[in-house]
Amino acid sequence: MNKNVKELLIPEFFKTPILDYEPSDLSPTLSEESVRSHLGHHESIVMWLNERISGTELENASIQELCKEGFQYDQDLAYYAGGHYNHTLFWTSLRASKNEAAKYPSHEFLKMIVGVFGSLETLIDGMALQASTSPNATWVWLTMDRGILEIKTTEQNHNPCMNSAHDIPLLCIDMSEHAYFMDYGFEKRKYLKAILHQINWKKVSERFNINLKK
Ligand SMILES: [Fe+2]
Repeated sequence: MNKNVKELLIPEFFKTPILDYEPSDLSPTLSEESVRSHLGHHESIVMWLNERISGTELENASIQELCKEGFQYDQDLAYYAGGHYNHTLFWTSLRASKNEAAKYPSHEFLKMIVGVFGSLETLIDGMALQASTSPNATWVWLTMDRGILEIKTTEQNHNPCMNSAHDIPLLCIDMSEHAYFMDYGFEKRKYLKAILHQINWKKVSERFNINLKK
C-alpha cells in the first residue's frame, strides 16, 4: 500500500519516540546501519499496532492497558503493544556515546543500587549474566516493585507490567537477534556488556525518582 494512502486510512494512535540522539550517535556500541534497521522494525510494530486497534473499542486505550489486554486475551496484541512499549523504553534508556553527563545515576539512585547490588558494575554484570543465561529471553529489565529494585527477563515482547500492578520498568535491553546480530554476530554476551554501558543513567534516575514518590 502506498504510504500516503495508508496514512489516510490508519489514524496514528501511537508513534515511535522522538530521540535525543541520532542513529549514528550510539557508535561504536551499535552501528548507524544497525540502529536504522532496528528503528525500522519498531516503526513496523507501531504500524501493525495502529492497524490492529483502528476502529475497535481499544482505540482510546493506553499502551499499558493494551499490554495487559493482550497478555490476557490476545497474543498478537501482546506482541504489538509490548513491542511498542518495550522498544520505546529501550531507545529512551540509551545515551549518545558523547553524552558523558548521562553516564552516572543520581546520588539517591546510586545509593539504592549500591544497597541492593553492591555497585553499578555489579548491577550491569548481573543484568548481562541473567540475560545471557535465560535461553528464551528476549528482553532484560531493571524494575522497581514497591521500592525494591529487581533484574528480570521476559520472552517474546512481553514486559513485567503486563501481569503486575506494581512492577515498574526503569530500563530494558532488547536481546532479540535483530538488536545485535549485524554488529556482534553470535556474540550476544559481548553486545550485552557494551549496550549496558550505553545506558542513559540520568534518564533512568529520573524514572526512579518519579516512581519513588508514587
Ligand atoms: Fe527489537
